[in-house]
Amino acid sequence: MRIDIITVLPELLESPLGHSIIKRAQSKGLVDIAVHNLRDYTDDSRRTVDDYPFGGEAGMVMKIEPIWRCISKLQSERSYDEVIYTSPDGERLDQRCANSLSLLGNIIILCGHYKGVDHRVREHLITREISIGDYVLTGGELAAAVIVDSVVRVVPGAIGDEASALTDTFQDDLLAPPVYTRPAEFNGWRVPDVLLSGNFKEISLWQERQAMERTERLRPDLLKKGLE
Ligand code: ADE
Repeated sequence: MRIDIITVLPELLESPLGHSIIKRAQSKGLVDIAVHNLRDYTDDSRRTVDDYPFGGEAGMVMKIEPIWRCISKLQSERSYDEVIYTSPDGERLDQRCANSLSLLGNIIILCGHYKGVDHRVREHLITREISIGDYVLTGGELAAAVIVDSVVRVVPGAIGDEASALTDTFQDDLLAPPVYTRPAEFNGWRVPDVLLSGNFKEISLWQERQAMERTERLRPDLLKKGLE
């Protein structure tokens, strides 16, 4: 999978993409992530990426020309399944969305900034708009990092233990059951006996019941969503 991220703040993406599972997935050749500085696609000496909005509102708007140049250059090199724009008014990222993006070959993610992009970018260049939640960030970089993280960890082979991504919270619209490790007792707080029993059928039943009980209690909306 190839992910191209277009941003005015490439430094913001270095750390989230340079560690742990995301770094390993890149070293293993499972995913190729390239970050492009939008200012490299400007044509003035001040490397201007934004301008005042028509109509006289407050704030700045990302200009269309550098974005068009950057996306056109990328599209001349390979074809893309989606050109994504990060925006608080996009479709909400969830596990299903992350899973479906992980099956794609090549995607572009354009990070929004300021008051947003010239709307013609959204009308003509963008194929999908994604929000990571109902709150406004200072820029789309952290949203892009969240999207990439959630997508890359479900790319087959990214997580060492293949089964582990499948038992994540949200994979079946259920919260994951609690997990424990040694010691079996700490400060008098004991790990549930069933987990120490060695009876895998019982353990699996207990985990299913816990997942259901926690979901009903903490996120009943997920159970309704599963029925949709
Ligand atoms: N840019 C600013 N806020 C955002 C959000 N909540 N999701 C995606 N991109 C954003």
